Amino acid sequence: MPLIKEKRISLGIAELTVAMEASRAERLRRTLPYQKVIRPALNWLQHRGTSQNGQSSGVAPIPETPLVAGPITPEVQAILDRIKGLEWYHSIDLPHGVSTPGYVDHRQQVHYYGLPADMRGIRALDVATYDGFWAFEMERRGAEVVAIDLDSLAQCDFPRRFRDQALSAGAQAKLGASFYLAKELLGSRVQREILSVYELSPEKLGTFDVVFLSDLLLHLRDPARALENVASVTREDGFAIIAEPYNQSLEAFRGVPLSQFGFAEAVGWWQHSVATFKTMLWAAGFDEVEEVSRFRLNCKAAIPLIKVVLKAYPKARAPLGNGRVSTHLTA
Ligand SMILES: C[S@@+](CC[C@H](N)C(=O)[O-])C[C@H]1O[C@@H](n2cnc3c(N)ncnc32)[C@H](O)[C@@H]1O
Repeated sequence: MPLIKEKRISLGIAELTVAMEASRAERLRRTLPYQKVIRPALNWLQHRGTSQNGQSSGVAPIPETPLVAGPITPEVQAILDRIKGLEWYHSIDLPHGVSTPGYVDHRQQVHYYGLPADMRGIRALDVATYDGFWAFEMERRGAEVVAIDLDSLAQCDFPRRFRDQALSAGAQAKLGASFYLAKELLGSRVQREILSVYELSPEKLGTFDVVFLSDLLLHLRDPARALENVASVTREDGFAIIAEPYNQSLEAFRGVPLSQFGFAEAVGWWQHSVATFKTMLWAAGFDEVEEVSRFRLNCKAAIPLIKVVLKAYPKARAPLGNGRVSTHLTA
């Protein structure tokens, strides 16, 4: 059966889906009209579909099987054979037009995160790397990257009530197989270390120009301690990028650092307002916090996860007034 490539654009209540054979899609993608007219138009539409408050988003459907953007050559088949036995959290583009069937697809949403386009000469840390999407992305931009994660999901901060359930569902399985396969296939030099964010310190890993942390704090009992450790390894002239789901209903109390204790799909501890994240970052030692974007994460979670991306600077870049935290809404 031919592989089918599908693209869906959401525009409020309207939705446009284009599906065609992967090989035809690849031929079309190489044509000038596609590159000069259709792709920019689709990007523009997709962007418009993602509102600031995340009410409607350009999230695309995530496929269940690996995607191949071309004919099944022996090289492609060899990669498919290797990725098929593994669980994939991230959709990652591999060589020969193969991409992994992730639970989360960040690929069309990278621009929301405010990463520098050129990261040459930068030492970067990816906290909670999972399959390594963000570590590989920063390396692709030129950074020297260290990535940390737990040895298995069993070490996560599960609430006691859900712990047995999680363990019987296989949480003891070692993490990292998908990361190492992607690393090998990409020819990456990212250094993966097994280290909890609770143990992160300059003594363990040194310091970094950019510390990247995404979709982790919701899983932690003590996010404030994690952010203190992030601050401890962020160089004075560097910054941290914190990209986390927030609770939209708490935004009604604009600027008040409110948080809700509760579980989303039994995996989360706290749902914070954006103001709570900013205040926690300030308490952790960051002088300035800049808001980069808000958007709906493209993932298979049953509930929509609306994220905020914050850039936190250890030292204020310009003199602040008497406010503790400077925020700039740039998206
Ligand atoms: C939802 S995934 C996020 C993956 C990736 N950062 C992203 O944004 O796509 C959560 C990750 O956090 C890791 N994690 C959970 N608790 C952790 C801890 N205390 N220290 C470091 N990593 C942790 C998990 O092992 C998993 O890799």
